[in-house]
Amino acid sequence: MNTVLRLLFHSTLSILLVCVITSCNVKGLFTKYGDDPVWVDPNAAKETASASSADDGGPGKDVYGRICAACHLGNGKGVPANNIPPLAGSEIAQGDATKPISIVLHGFMGPIERGGTQINGQMAAWKDQLSDQQIADVLTYVRKSFGNSGDPVSADDVKAVREATASRLTPYTEAEL
Ligand code: HEC
Repeated sequence: MNTVLRLLFHSTLSILLVCVITSCNVKGLFTKYGDDPVWVDPNAAKETASASSADDGGPGKDVYGRICAACHLGNGKGVPANNIPPLAGSEIAQGDATKPISIVLHGFMGPIERGGTQINGQMAAWKDQLSDQQIADVLTYVRKSFGNSGDPVSADDVKAVREATASRLTPYTEAEL
């Protein structure tokens, strides 16, 4: 009986000891990693930005590829038979920047006629997803690509149109632009 008690006492003691040591280590681990701020390389974004603003179409090509190409296609030709107009050769895309900026901010809806084809589609508003800079970049890309020639668009241009059209809630029609 005595031996059993002594054994029990010893094993309880060792379990207690192990617990104390473990809890110390565990606490130490959490304190160490929990209190360290996540380190973000301040140059990471800069590197990406300068890498994509090289001779590859600039940052606007990236936005175009992620968003616009799904409908207007990578070559800017759109799918007119599917109510998606081309941006290649588009007068609106290349002309007075206020129009394409308004379209990307608030959307656009038909009917319109492009290259002899009746188009009656609807493009969504991107004002909540894209920053002034992203819209400037993507439109600059569109205006310099697919054989187009239009002036670059700046973030300030987009900001001005965004402010002037802030109360707009529906897509533009061609007559309203
Ligand atoms: C989900 C499909 C879709 C996406 C994504 C899309 N568009 Fe459109 N876009 C359209 C449709 C449809 C129209 C024509 C709507 C109509 O019938 O008037 C249009 C029209 C336009 C026009 C007017 C062209 C013209 O000559 O009338 C411009 C400029 C334009 N889009 C730019 C963009 C840009 C830039 C992006 C990316 C930020 C983009 N679109 C993303 C579907 C889309």
